[in-house]
Amino acid sequence: MIALFTLFVLLAFSSATSVRYEADWKSLDTRPTPDWFDNGKFGIFIHWGIFSVPSIDFDHNNHSEWFWSFWKINQSPKYVDFMNKNYKPGFSYADFGPQFTCELFEPDQWADIFKHAGAKYIVLTAKHHEGFTLWPSNYSWNWNAVDVGAHRDLAGELKAAVDRVGGVRFGMYFSQFEWFNPLHIEDLKRKPPTRNYPNMVSYPQMIEFVNNYKPELIWSDGDWAGDADYWRSTEFLQWLFNESPVKDSIAVNDRWGSGTWGRHGGYWNVMDHYDPGHLVGHKWENCFNLDRYSWGYRRTMTSSDVRTMLELINELARTIACGGNLLLNIGPTADGRIVAAFELRLRQLGRWLQTNGEGVYGTKPWIYQNDSNIW
Ligand SMILES: *[C@@H]1O[C@H](CO)[C@@H](O)[C@H](O)[C@H]1NC(C)=O
Ligand SMILES: *[C@@H]1O[C@H](CO)[C@@H](O)[C@H](O)[C@H]1NC(C)=O
Ligand SMILES: *[C@@H]1O[C@H](CO)[C@@H](O)[C@H](O)[C@H]1NC(C)=O
Repeated sequence: MIALFTLFVLLAFSSATSVRYEADWKSLDTRPTPDWFDNGKFGIFIHWGIFSVPSIDFDHNNHSEWFWSFWKINQSPKYVDFMNKNYKPGFSYADFGPQFTCELFEPDQWADIFKHAGAKYIVLTAKHHEGFTLWPSNYSWNWNAVDVGAHRDLAGELKAAVDRVGGVRFGMYFSQFEWFNPLHIEDLKRKPPTRNYPNMVSYPQMIEFVNNYKPELIWSDGDWAGDADYWRSTEFLQWLFNESPVKDSIAVNDRWGSGTWGRHGGYWNVMDHYDPGHLVGHKWENCFNLDRYSWGYRRTMTSSDVRTMLELINELARTIACGGNLLLNIGPTADGRIVAAFELRLRQLGRWLQTNGEGVYGTKPWIYQNDSNIW
């Protein structure tokens, strides 16, 4: 009896671990999103980088983190004027680097806020479209937080702090493309495109980050400039799901190349603020900003720009009723602070969840999602 039982356990164990994924969507799409993600329901998104230095937007365009692009690619007059008026001639975006000092960054204080907010995971912009890495990447020489500005491994320190506080998983936002990476720009000029940039930068960066920081979520973005073949996405996900140190617990989204949104990868983000308002037969996530006008920090944010508790609770209820997770975004400052207005909302939401968490965490959507406007 005991021997039989042991055999059964061994068989069950070996079949559970023997799933091997192929480097194609047919196979990769069969991988279930881990239970922790579905059960967690609520995470915190953190947009932090060199863009946190200028930390300004014009015309409420909702993207202070796109400063470089608005200034240099669109050459929007308000951005150009702002730079001409306030910075010396010839000042470049790279000159903001040394000002990303983070001298007030206390990772344990951040972790304490996230924990008390009731968040079960965080997603840090380890690299946004500007290409600056918040970890000392060997593939981003002199454009990372250890070589420039803070001179600290910001990703590593935050990961260590959330591990210390416990119950909050660490996730990585990663932009596949970089606005001004010459390798990427050259790749796109060739027909068919060469793959020097993914081969020499984005692909090895993802492997490096996963091996060194063991994130349990990868929020891929900036993928629209190429297809999944260009980014080597299926090859990467095969490695991630079969071989990587986080192969059993990793959750991933769906932004893995043009045409993959809402179709391939892991859970669905589709577009920013995705909020379908009906039950979706696939796990999804609503990324939602606490400052209604930006992901990155804005120095010009006013109190009425910060979403109210009623808006947050409504959005959380509506999202989880339809099978989604809410990823609530904050933008910290260049000196490393989470401003009081954000901290206050996060702690208020945490207090609400202390009372009402039983109806949130670990729940499954019901057959009806709402009765008029009650979700
Ligand atoms: C910015 O977001 C606000 C509120 O979320 C929305 O009403 C507005 O249309 C957006 N602006 C742009 C330029 O997309
Ligand atoms: C960068 O490369 C060096 C030398 O190969 C290695 O010791 C270091 O761990 C690498 N850094 C990262 C972040 O992988
Ligand atoms: C639920 O909300 C949707 C979208 O707001 C609305 O169209 C629908 O009528 C509501 N359902 C019920 C039963 O009230």
